[in-house]
Amino acid sequence: MPRFIYWVLNLSALVVGRSVVECSSKPPAFLLAGDSTTAPDGGWGDGLLATLKKPAWGVNIGKSGATTASFLAGGYWANVTQQVKDNVEKYDSYVTISFGHNDQKSTSGVTFEQYQENLIKFAGEIKSLGGKPLLTSSLTRRVFPSGQDHNATDSLHDQRLAAIAAAKATNSTIIDLNEASLEYIDAIGKEAAQEYNYGEDMSDTTHLNPHGCVVFGRMVADLIIRAESCVERYFTPNQTLSDLIWSDLPA
Ligand SMILES: *[C@@H]1O[C@H](CO)[C@@H](O)[C@H](O)[C@H]1NC(C)=O
Ligand SMILES: *[C@@H]1O[C@H](CO)[C@@H](O)[C@H](O)[C@H]1NC(C)=O
Ligand SMILES: *[C@@H]1O[C@H](CO)[C@@H](O)[C@H](O)[C@H]1NC(C)=O
Ligand SMILES: *[C@@H]1O[C@H](CO)[C@@H](O)[C@H](O)[C@H]1NC(C)=O
Repeated sequence: MPRFIYWVLNLSALVVGRSVVECSSKPPAFLLAGDSTTAPDGGWGDGLLATLKKPAWGVNIGKSGATTASFLAGGYWANVTQQVKDNVEKYDSYVTISFGHNDQKSTSGVTFEQYQENLIKFAGEIKSLGGKPLLTSSLTRRVFPSGQDHNATDSLHDQRLAAIAAAKATNSTIIDLNEASLEYIDAIGKEAAQEYNYGEDMSDTTHLNPHGCVVFGRMVADLIIRAESCVERYFTPNQTLSDLIWSDLPA
């Protein structure tokens, strides 16, 4: 860019008090790594991908039952890294990394320290391949202590902190889905929160039914746009839905 235009841009950025964001000319690809709360049929991943506009695209590689360790051992992580490599010339690959629900189980065989290390390893690897890791803190469970309608159980607190710490350690973006989803269901309350439950009898308070997939997929899309403003034009907005979510109203 000619130097004088550069200076004018920088000057106007100074005037409005923010820095110039240099957007890439490559469209984004979204590769979703995670457990069942990301995966098709029960997660938010397909809801996020449904908001994308061409030439952006994405693949849901979320795997039901996965811990960070089994995702690696099962070859799913290799699928993610291969796609980042294959697309590095034409696309900016953004990789959501969202685990915790299974890692945290006492039977998982993964200690909290290993979980933390695996998140850092995943994010570091994506960076080294030229991709952009989006450490996405775990979707909240929609469980409330008995007798309480607006105080959901914060059962993934430490897993959220590990995602934040991994983002700091690798200088990558945190998508704080745990905070946003917990605040949201706290605000709309227990009864409204159960509308997103999975299963015929809607008793599964961890996974999402098709409507929950749309709502929490939109929440993730909006969080990504806030953190990575350059990708906004590759998403189809639904202002009605976003307004409901961010005004703490049942969607
Ligand atoms: C990668 O994951 C996607 C989504 O699950 C799947 O369709 C594809 O076959 C996988 N590729 C390989 C090489 O396993
Ligand atoms: C929410 O629940 C926690 C743990 O059960 C409790 O300590 C806290 O007082 C509750 N907060 C409200 C506002 O009810
Ligand atoms: C962290 O990343 C940002 C943008 O992604 C970059 O501008 C900054 O220089 C990086 N900082 C370090 C210490 O690598
Ligand atoms: C946008 O969201 C609203 C609220 O959930 C929904 O009624 C509407 O059908 C959505 N519009 C589109 C085009 O998906």
